[in-house]
Amino acid sequence: MPSEGYHEPLDLLSERTRNLHRAIVSVMEELNAIDWYQQRAEACSDPHLKDVLAHNKNEEIEHAMMVLEWIRRHDDDFSTRMKTYLFTELPITDIEKAAAGDAPPAAPSTTLGIGAMKGR
Ligand SMILES: [Fe+2]
Repeated sequence: MPSEGYHEPLDLLSERTRNLHRAIVSVMEELNAIDWYQQRAEACSDPHLKDVLAHNKNEEIEHAMMVLEWIRRHDDDFSTRMKTYLFTELPITDIEKAAAGDAPPAAPSTTLGIGAMKGR
């Protein structure tokens, strides 16, 4: 059975798009599994089973990140947005404004201003 979720005839889709679809569906499946394990672990009354479920959740996070990295390496649009938003410290909605040039980027909270130097 072919992968579900195609919205256009397969003969109109390139191999690149088919592979991107495979990766996106895989990330969706991994994120669903993470959500399930998170809830099961939190609700579980047996501490040993809770540990196993939490371990399994972290394995699924690893799987999701591996596929996201594949997507980053194979799709320039994903890569560009990931570089803009991931591993940043600004308020998330300010990043878009700063990237669009609508507002200057806010100072990160860890930056020491002149006021922070007073009394030293
Ligand atoms: Fe997985």
